[in-house]
Amino acid sequence: MDQLERTCCGHVGRNDEGREIRLQGWVDARRDHGDLLFIHMRDWTGIVQVVFQETGSDRMFETARHLREEYCISVVGRVVSRQAGTENPSLATGDVEVTAASLTILNTSRHLPFQLSEKAMTAGASISTPANVAEDLRLQYRYLDLRRPSMQDNLKKRHRMIKKARSILDDHGFIEIETPNLTRSTPEGARDYIVPSRVHESAFYALPQSPQLFKQLLMVSGMERYYQVARCFRDEDLRPNRQPEFTQLDIEAAFIDESFICELIEEVIAAMFDETGITLARPFPKITYAEAMASTGSDRPDLRFGLRFIHATDIFSDTAYSIFKQILKRGGHIIGINVKGQSDELSKNVLQNEYAKQIVPGFGGKGMTWMRVADGRLDSNIVQFFSKAEQAAVMERFGCEEGDVLMIVADPSYELTTGVLGQLRLHVANRLGLIPEDAWHPVWVTDFPLFDPLEEGGVTSTHHPFTAPDRTDFDPKNVSELLQLKSRAYDIVINGEEVGGGSIRIDNFKVQEKIFAALGLSREEVTEKFGFFLKALEFGAPPHGGIAIGIDRLVSMALGTASIRDVIAFPKNRSAFCPLTKAPSVVSREQLDELGLLNFGMAEKIAQTEEKNIIDTLSWVSRIGIDEQERPVMAEAVEKARNLAERVLARPCEAAPMYSVIALENRTRPGKTPVTHPAAANGGLLANAPETRGDFFKVANIIE
Ligand code: AMO
Repeated sequence: MDQLERTCCGHVGRNDEGREIRLQGWVDARRDHGDLLFIHMRDWTGIVQVVFQETGSDRMFETARHLREEYCISVVGRVVSRQAGTENPSLATGDVEVTAASLTILNTSRHLPFQLSEKAMTAGASISTPANVAEDLRLQYRYLDLRRPSMQDNLKKRHRMIKKARSILDDHGFIEIETPNLTRSTPEGARDYIVPSRVHESAFYALPQSPQLFKQLLMVSGMERYYQVARCFRDEDLRPNRQPEFTQLDIEAAFIDESFICELIEEVIAAMFDETGITLARPFPKITYAEAMASTGSDRPDLRFGLRFIHATDIFSDTAYSIFKQILKRGGHIIGINVKGQSDELSKNVLQNEYAKQIVPGFGGKGMTWMRVADGRLDSNIVQFFSKAEQAAVMERFGCEEGDVLMIVADPSYELTTGVLGQLRLHVANRLGLIPEDAWHPVWVTDFPLFDPLEEGGVTSTHHPFTAPDRTDFDPKNVSELLQLKSRAYDIVINGEEVGGGSIRIDNFKVQEKIFAALGLSREEVTEKFGFFLKALEFGAPPHGGIAIGIDRLVSMALGTASIRDVIAFPKNRSAFCPLTKAPSVVSREQLDELGLLNFGMAEKIAQTEEKNIIDTLSWVSRIGIDEQERPVMAEAVEKARNLAERVLARPCEAAPMYSVIALENRTRPGKTPVTHPAAANGGLLANAPETRGDFFKVANIIE
């Protein structure tokens, strides 16, 4: 029997009926029926039910009674069909079960910090999903969180999507080359993570924000088709779809143009989505940056729904309506959207008091003009100020029909008008449920400006400084000319999210020097930062270009996960902190000394850190500022928590606490008596509760 090969839980089926098999995995859930014990046994292929029956003499049943969730076990047993009516259609193996003949507990498990099981043991029974568990707790016990089948599924699909991309790139003659992580700064618009060098005192490496310079150097090397599944590091403000450390599918090729990259990437992305059962229509449409801004107010246009911008500036060129008149006098713009047939949803009150007074100002707009179409004409608080001709032109331009609602933004600044209306467009679409689920709208955004203006004067690169301009005869000192330049960059946007970006690069060192000059870098700075790169361009660099796709974002989108963290095995939380390893952490004075960091004023910093009290640490870890007045309150709360912890330690509870916010319930078959944990009966469960009421204990409010 010991020689039996392992059968995976999820592979057991009717074909195995009568066969003796060995299963190895975890106890997903259990049901105790006195003389019968059922468990769901789980490995990474799925779940199968195992039945232990009391025969009177054997010790296996006694061992089985001690099984608890997440014990790691090995079972040998025979596959049998389930009795009619007891099948579990929510399990792929739900037609059969395994009658256990022997059981080995490979390793026991502590009480779980949260429930892992995602499958009910009886057909039709509901199960609380761990979706409500605080994410930091999930991340703290990530190794358990990753046992959940849905998380395993995410990582398996991520693997398959990347494998598909690799295979297509391989078919096109690309080779995977690794580039260094300990390197110099590569500008991508974020701050660098820097790493001190022990060997070179006072010197630092930077972790790459992307492999940009190395992939271009590889082109100079004649490695004509490169790709890499590359880890990138960016110290930037965190947003839901950003991680400080993330993965790119980084690609570069020589002697190619924009169309080569677009066709290749469409093939790669379509195949990656196909792995998850989503078909993307090809070719992907293209839209210029200017068109995207003019029609959606965003360079990441969400094309799943309409609400495209309607420009109405010209209609009001002679208007008597003073607000528009003032704005137009200052060269302003009047742009709106027609929310078709939604006047029942968007009442005058909602439009005036919510949108015009609160929501639009929240987006940075000064106000919003609204009109509803009722009884064949425009109706609002300001229509009386519009001439008949203006009203007729609006009706025509906006294609007005009964029940339509027009929302119009006007401002002297085009960027502000389109930006505010773009946010309004998304807000209204979300509020009214106008965004179809399961719709996929990839689009290439092209013809970006090469530079963005800086508030303090001068320009910065819209993408990165290695992007080729549309022409090279510009004056690097002429800011208004620089702001007219277009780049040969292209972004791939899906459903309003940027999933990748790239460009044709500058391959001529003189042009590259001109760009650095336009960015205001001195010759010394350029030599210091990019001298090695400029020198490489002087050795017969080929024309080349490439792109990088954000793998985490793409996978998360295709799988429809709530966050990109759900497709990354060990992500950082929203404060760039790892609750599992507690990184980043303070390092010892000795280590800093060895790295020569004490000479950088760190000695004083460390002294301060050592003195720092718990409140500062709490404030830092939680990223919540605590002011002087709040300190005593916090100190008292911390003291209480410390006392409670001491009480807990002094009087250990018989049952370990369950940190769960899920409703827990006992489930027993009709006719069976529920078994109560002895700790509940003798009061042990509530032994450490600071405050009790009846059979319940009070928990502290949780602020996330
Ligand atoms: P870019 O900066 O546009 O381009 O990055 C490429 C893609 O990477 C993803 N991405 C991120 N994903 C998660 N967390 C982040 N913090 C994060 N930042 C970016 C996005 C983005 O579209 N060197 C260029 C590429 C090139 O020109 O070839 C670059 O890195 O999906």
